[in-house]
Amino acid sequence: MPRDSLFVCQNCGATHPRWSGRCDACGEWNTIREEAPVSEGPGKRPTRGRGIDLTDLASSDPEPPRTNAGVEELDRVLGGGLVQASAILVGGDPGIGKSTLLLQASARFARQGLKVVYISGEESRGQVQMRARRLGLTESPVKLAAATNLSDILATLEAETPDLAVIDSIQTMWSDQSDSAPGSVSQVRAAAHELTSFAKRRGMAVVMVGHVTKEGAIAGPRVVEHMVDCVLYFEGDRGGAFRILRAHKNRFGPADEIGVFEMTGKGLVEVRNPSALFLEGRGTPAPGSAVYPGIEGTRPILTEIQALVAPAPPGGARRSVTGLDSSRLSMILAVLDARAGLSFAGLDVYLNVAGGLRIQDPAADLAIAAALVSAREGEALPADCVIFGEISLSGALRSVPQTENRLKEAVKLGFSSALLPPRPRRAGGGAGLELKELDDVPTFVSRTFT
Ligand code: TYD
Ligand code: MG
Repeated sequence: MPRDSLFVCQNCGATHPRWSGRCDACGEWNTIREEAPVSEGPGKRPTRGRGIDLTDLASSDPEPPRTNAGVEELDRVLGGGLVQASAILVGGDPGIGKSTLLLQASARFARQGLKVVYISGEESRGQVQMRARRLGLTESPVKLAAATNLSDILATLEAETPDLAVIDSIQTMWSDQSDSAPGSVSQVRAAAHELTSFAKRRGMAVVMVGHVTKEGAIAGPRVVEHMVDCVLYFEGDRGGAFRILRAHKNRFGPADEIGVFEMTGKGLVEVRNPSALFLEGRGTPAPGSAVYPGIEGTRPILTEIQALVAPAPPGGARRSVTGLDSSRLSMILAVLDARAGLSFAGLDVYLNVAGGLRIQDPAADLAIAAALVSAREGEALPADCVIFGEISLSGALRSVPQTENRLKEAVKLGFSSALLPPRPRRAGGGAGLELKELDDVPTFVSRTFT
């Protein structure tokens, strides 16, 4: 007897009893699709459980073996190399460079002695081979196949016993464990589940590519995030050259760690000193530019925050933000207005982080405010100065974590002064910098602008 079908949000995976235009769980529109239920198979007799072994917290097992790719930007994001028998999801917008990254990584791991199988469900073998030729990887002992049938793939992996399998992409795979169409939540979930449990059982690492989809026509990588050990997102603006690989979740290392790459005609090249590159081409200081010493994972990175302010046409001012949170911009504009008497009403405001980095840290508040006021006043900030600190609603500046590391990176890149909140006692760092500690936003405005 056919069971009722399910209505599943293709964005977050929530199930609903009936179709609706908007998913209550995640708030996305037009993401709910009808799906056949997962077949439960024959022999669903309740079984009596057997006792399981309990053990102490102290384990006698050594750390799981890891392999370094020899690409520092990748190894760092993985938490210190690829862990045996782990499952990794690499998400990102279509065309951002996921296949390129994973083909290059496969070749690297193969050269380190791992047995690597690359399965493409999106491109033909010929296309992948052509890319490999272009990237100069044809000498690497990576085994390649174009396939989408999961049973065939698992049978092949069973026979080949690779150390690493790359699945590009999880949305093209189909498993006969689910009756739904390829790309649907049920299929993506079933395929990811089968691959992950196979990997754990066989001691193989599996990397699954997942496209981020805005339209919700196919299931997004979110539905597999909780199944895997490690979730990496590949970001950056497609027009620009920089690509950032960020660990959103990592069971084997720190989350929020990033690796920086540049997309070139010969594939992705790692960027070992991103601060220098992000600040490159800044030229003479212009109004609206502020240098922010950020912390990404364990690493300090300097970036330029750019603001542009222009008279708005009547009927509503624009607020356009790239690389920062737009609610943060609203808050900072409100504080500037209420606490420092600087209104942006009637002005269009554009805010951007150079290099395509996304900044979440409230430590960027003061640099954002500085860029905004500098743009509004048409006065450039001192070129040799880094700016950071959290702004509270009262207009007070709050100290932020890792002040010392931020200042050290600034010294390393030749900066000579810093605008920052009062430092907590015993905070070190800052040798070689002129430190201007500021209590609040009004003090910052009056001391910085004439
Ligand atoms: P791709 O890895 O196919 O993206 P994804 O798998 O995330 O969809 O890369 C897509 C883009 O990268 C493509 O537009 C061309 C560009 N590219 C380069 O600039 N240089 C290269 O060497 C390669 C292989 C790709
Ligand atoms: Mg691809």
